[in-house]
Amino acid sequence: MSFARPGGGRRVRVLTDVGLTVSAGEIVGIVGETGSGKTTLARAVAGLNAPDRGQVHLDGQDITGLRGRARRRLRRSGAIQFVFQDPLRSLDPALTVGASLREGLAIAGTGTRAQRAERVAAALRQVGLDPAVADRYPAQISGGQRQRASIARAVVSDPRLLLCDEPVSALDASNRNHILLLLDELRRRLSVGIVVISHDLSTLAGIADRVVVLYRGRVVEDGPIEEVFARPRHPYTALLLASAPDIHGRDRHAAARLRLAGDSAATAAAVASQPASCGFAHRCRFATDACVETPPQRALTGRAAGAWTVACHHAETWPDELAATTPQAAVSPQAAVSRKAAVSRKDPAA
Ligand SMILES: Nc1ncnc2c1ncn2[C@@H]1O[C@H](COP(=O)(O)OP(=O)(O)OP(=O)(O)O)[C@@H](O)[C@H]1O
Ligand code: SF4
Ligand SMILES: [Mg+2]
Repeated sequence: MSFARPGGGRRVRVLTDVGLTVSAGEIVGIVGETGSGKTTLARAVAGLNAPDRGQVHLDGQDITGLRGRARRRLRRSGAIQFVFQDPLRSLDPALTVGASLREGLAIAGTGTRAQRAERVAAALRQVGLDPAVADRYPAQISGGQRQRASIARAVVSDPRLLLCDEPVSALDASNRNHILLLLDELRRRLSVGIVVISHDLSTLAGIADRVVVLYRGRVVEDGPIEEVFARPRHPYTALLLASAPDIHGRDRHAAARLRLAGDSAATAAAVASQPASCGFAHRCRFATDACVETPPQRALTGRAAGAWTVACHHAETWPDELAATTPQAAVSPQAAVSRKAAVSRKDPAA
């Protein structure tokens, strides 16, 4: 996926060789720092951005090449839905909540007017809202209620894939946990595949089955979330985990130990002259010549469902190198994130 520069010239490449799978009823988290391409990826999957190359398969069907009537039919079916970070972006402020929800069903030509009204009420109940909210405008309900309403709008058409872009980052801790528990419940009840984009790892630790880590538009790690959090195989994932804020007295030096010591200008210059090298090399304290000369690849061909992939030349050896410089008594930052997740699961108001 690339974008044209405003003044012309070479296009800016934003996503490269990205591949991921979301199964029915599964929650996949996508993490990465700002600008890593999370939103662009979700928009490309939803058909809101046109990628240069690649394919999107929905229930086994390649939907990338759909044109004209077939494309419109897919769009109107509401099979892929998007929940934006700011609920006001997905709810038209000039329409009542009910009208917003009915709109999608009317476009899809679903049922009679009365049946559509019943489905809207059911969708609102499903997300824990009183159906009376249907008569209010988005500005007349709270932020948490608005996010529930935008999720109701997304699930009313019974989607197969729900893409949630930072769905809780605008909410307070209590609403945040309620929304995460709601997504967890919806995937079970509706058997819908859900993608949750977040820069906050503790958000994902509570609900996601898998995590996909994006760095500069490439997937650097993809695997079962508990295992990735317990034993990250990419140095960037380890740094993300070690940098996660935590109030439970984690090892404050864990992130520092993963960072490149001293001046990284020489490595950065070497990386810049070799665009094919690992994009993380200028920040990685485990980088060697191989990292600058050859791009690390994720083994994708023929991989089994649920497999754990990583794009790092030294995935097997860097943890030992790190352990050799880590004090025995250090509290693992990964454990801190898992602990927070456990708290979130037990107590929605925590
Ligand atoms: N329409 C566009 N035209 C040009 N560049 C774009 C466009 N949309 C995104 N980009 C660029 O693509 C890169 C990835 O942006 P994207 O919004 O996907 O990042 P993100 O991971 O979602 O970041 P954040 O966490 O801040 O939301 C950024 O460098 C951004 O400037
Ligand atoms: S490939 Fe090399 S530079 Fe890249 S993350 Fe792995 S060790 Fe670091
Ligand atoms: Mg984004």
